Amino acid sequence: MTEQNRRILLKARPTGRPGPEHFELAETPLPEIGKNEVLVRHRFLSLDPYMRGRMDDSASYSAPVKLGEVMEGECVGEVVESRNPAFSPGDWVGGARGWQLYSAAPGHTVQKLPGVEGVPPSAYLGVLGMPGTTAWVGVTEIGQPRPGETFVVAAASGAVGGVAGQIAKAMGCRVVGIAGGAEKCRYVTEELGFDACLDHRGDLGAQLDEACPGGIDVYFENVGGAVQEAVFPRMRDFGRIAFCGMVAGYNVRPLPPGPNLTSVVRKRLRLQGFIVSDHPRAWATWRERGAAWIRAGKLRWKEDVAEGLENAPDAFIGLLEGKNFGKLVVKL
Ligand SMILES: NC(=O)c1ccc[n+]([C@@H]2O[C@H](COP(=O)([O-])OP(=O)(O)OC[C@H]3O[C@@H](n4cnc5c(N)ncnc54)[C@H](OP(=O)(O)O)[C@@H]3O)[C@@H](O)[C@H]2O)c1
Repeated sequence: MTEQNRRILLKARPTGRPGPEHFELAETPLPEIGKNEVLVRHRFLSLDPYMRGRMDDSASYSAPVKLGEVMEGECVGEVVESRNPAFSPGDWVGGARGWQLYSAAPGHTVQKLPGVEGVPPSAYLGVLGMPGTTAWVGVTEIGQPRPGETFVVAAASGAVGGVAGQIAKAMGCRVVGIAGGAEKCRYVTEELGFDACLDHRGDLGAQLDEACPGGIDVYFENVGGAVQEAVFPRMRDFGRIAFCGMVAGYNVRPLPPGPNLTSVVRKRLRLQGFIVSDHPRAWATWRERGAAWIRAGKLRWKEDVAEGLENAPDAFIGLLEGKNFGKLVVKL
């Protein structure tokens, strides 16, 4: 075999948007396979938003790609040589084998693709692969929509969003997608069967008001940014948001002020709003517990006392500027 392996390496780390200067094409001899390894000729490489994060040298749920190393990515391909009894030449396999034509893969790093009729091998990188599985988990385990609820999904024509909306539809939801441009929106409604699709390049807030007059029960977040800004205030009470990703921010540097909600995904945070009045039994429980702690000298507090009702407005204004020190009360 005279063919060379071709690999895309990470050459430099971008600040903001990646460019060609951050990648390098390298040619190397075909890898030799060792015991229990297979030589795979990759036929399809998956490109996914998460790869932008791997280009940064920052803490995340997965280690960054090192400079000079092959870019990380899932592939499907054919086994061309095998020193592993579980695989034979001609088998189709998938695995995280990187941006390259060939790899010498230890058997445990690749899985044989189940040959499903009507399913091309590339589908194992999308609808039946990581993005499809992401949609399934995000809808059924995180968003948990109920029949009749309004389910909104961003990047609705994409690998994750398109599947997420169809799962929610199958669960009996009214499904509204958000996508960029008329062509994508048409695809989402006509081909994927969503009830509506809104173009985020237009006035998304007004479109959401019209498409979701009762508000949004479940939002599947793929995008962040301006889309998130329009969706959040339209959530219904006790709504659920599956934070899957925020691709609109992946190239934005420096990060805008305020909490970086990308941490919600990276650190698998659970955000749950609450209002104390929804918990009527807690009042008596705490009063009893707090009083006991006070009696035992375990609970301290401080009051900031304004004098006279006429000073209440000033005191209140000061409160919003942090001028109070302790619990602000007005002595009347
Ligand atoms: N948590 C997980 O385990 C997990 C796994 C897989 C993927 N993800 C996340 O899921 C999301 C979708 O991934 P995907 O693979 O399905 O990608 P995708 O939807 O196929 O491609 C990304 C899409 O995002 C939209 N987009 C990009 N920049 C945008 C912006 N500034 N404003 C609005 N929309 C923008 C574009 O669609 P429009 O033209 O329609 O706007 C673009 O086509 C990403 O955030 C990704 O990181 C998370």
